[in-house]
Amino acid sequence: MFKIRPFNSTDEEYARIVEINNALWPDELNTVENLRYEDEERNPTFFFKRLIIELDYPSLVVEEPGKIIGETWCGQDQWEYDPSRYFFGLHVDPQYGQLEYGQNSISTAVMAYLLNLLNNRRPKPKLLTTHCREDKTGRLNFLKEQGFTEEMRFQDSELDVTTFDPAPFLDRVRQVKSLGIEILTLPELKTRFDNWMEQLYELDMETARDEPTTGEFTPQPIEEYAKIFNHPAFLEDGWMIAVDGGQCVGGSDIWNNKADPQKLNTGFTRVRRSHRRKGIATALKLATIQYVQQRGATRIITNNEENNPMYQINVKLGFKPRPAWLEFHKELKVKEG
Ligand SMILES: CC(C)(COP(=O)(O)OP(=O)(O)OC[C@H]1O[C@@H](n2cnc3c(N)ncnc32)[C@H](O)[C@@H]1OP(=O)(O)O)[C@@H](O)C(=O)NCCC(=O)NCCS
Repeated sequence: MFKIRPFNSTDEEYARIVEINNALWPDELNTVENLRYEDEERNPTFFFKRLIIELDYPSLVVEEPGKIIGETWCGQDQWEYDPSRYFFGLHVDPQYGQLEYGQNSISTAVMAYLLNLLNNRRPKPKLLTTHCREDKTGRLNFLKEQGFTEEMRFQDSELDVTTFDPAPFLDRVRQVKSLGIEILTLPELKTRFDNWMEQLYELDMETARDEPTTGEFTPQPIEEYAKIFNHPAFLEDGWMIAVDGGQCVGGSDIWNNKADPQKLNTGFTRVRRSHRRKGIATALKLATIQYVQQRGATRIITNNEENNPMYQINVKLGFKPRPAWLEFHKELKVKEG
């Protein structure tokens, strides 16, 4: 009916898996360019595998044997590294949804395939993680049946910038300015500091460890970090940086969405511990909203762990919740040998 085979990185495969992604997630469109870049630049030190699910004989539903109807992937997270912790994901073309769950389904076959693959690795896998959007009941039921438990909730939210009123927040911006803190765009920062990338790297390595996650933050070398500045969705003038004297103390960045230019994404908003609760995050967010307005886009999409104070800052700014993403874990029994 279907088979699971290696991904060969062909143009045709990339085009098809992006088509499936976009049919599944019309609110979160992706591009071949983004996916290729992320695959090609992924640090090979960390395990990652992408696999194709395609129609196969014999089957009643086979009109086109060899047609790609889904993809699955699994790997280790370099930013939350643990050699025995793996994530996985699965996309099935909604037109073939009848094959996704139930007896002899794609989900069951993929789970067996991945567990077998990972069990051959050393050290043996101890934890399998995955994300599922809260409105995808078929997948939620499958994960629960498989023994996955919900560990963390990440709230998606979006702001309509066309109706955004900055007035209630302008006092906060004035307060930040009165402390001598400037908000610069990245092109402005570059003219100020030759070591702008080292500055941003240090800022991010300090602040990312305070972002709620289920694993422990793993700092990466600056060469790895530097790859974000060549990502196809990187927008140089969408980066707002808070500078206090000679030091970068905060930042918030907007990412492009070439598949849906009206909707831009917030990457990471962060403020050094020494500078928190002074209104800097609020001032940075205001600068990013103004940037998106000037660019002529209509919406900003973001995602925060539900108890992160950043989520309430976004709600106060007018971001409206969308369905949340849930992180699921399954402890794997390690058999010796
Ligand atoms: C979340 C974060 C960016 C907030 O930065 P900040 O500059 O301190 O935020 P602001 O000063 O603009 O806060 C505005 C309001 O939000 C609320 N708030 C901010 N941080 C809070 C906290 N830790 N606990 C409770 N409320 C908080 C308060 O109401 C605050 O106003 P107040 O200080 O007058 O009471 C910062 O804590 C941080 O860098 N955290 C680690 C990285 C992270 O998780 N980023 C978000 C993920 S994208």
